[in-house]
Amino acid sequence: MERTFLMIKPDGVRRGLIGSIIARFEAKGFKMIAGKLMIISDELVKKHYYEHEGKPYYHDLTTFMTSGPVFAMVWEGEDIIKLARFMMGSTDPEKATPGTIRGDYATRMNRNVIHGSDSPENASREINLFFNEDECVRL
Ligand code: PPS
Repeated sequence: MERTFLMIKPDGVRRGLIGSIIARFEAKGFKMIAGKLMIISDELVKKHYYEHEGKPYYHDLTTFMTSGPVFAMVWEGEDIIKLARFMMGSTDPEKATPGTIRGDYATRMNRNVIHGSDSPENASREINLFFNEDECVRL
């Protein structure tokens, strides 16, 4: 069983998409084992996006991600890292296929509704940044 970190971004929370997005992962058969509504601190956003520091979009991305509440989650399921990224669709909503989360709910790269870990290493790192092990329910 694999774990991943998913986060509904401030645009998704503001637009009332938490329930619809969670429903998709539940319908797929995945299990949420931790979740919280929170505002990300400047320190946490820097740690989370450290790989992107120096990129032209870094300032916009970090400002946006701290602009309002996010819904941070840990999910569990077989092959979930890859499958959740399929369900999210391309990072750029203009390229995201209809039927995916970004394909259905987003139009712009800088307002793309959801983040999902892209590798087992990043999943583990991101889960540990946002959650203590005792916040994750054992199923
Ligand atoms: S990915 O999915 O990690 O391969 O995507 P990548 O293209 O490397 O982008 C990394 C994260 O930066 C965000 N991003 C942007 N935000 C705002 N404006 C612009 N132009 C932009 N370009 C990239 C992108 O959504 C990724 O954030 P996360 O949270 O990982 O989705």
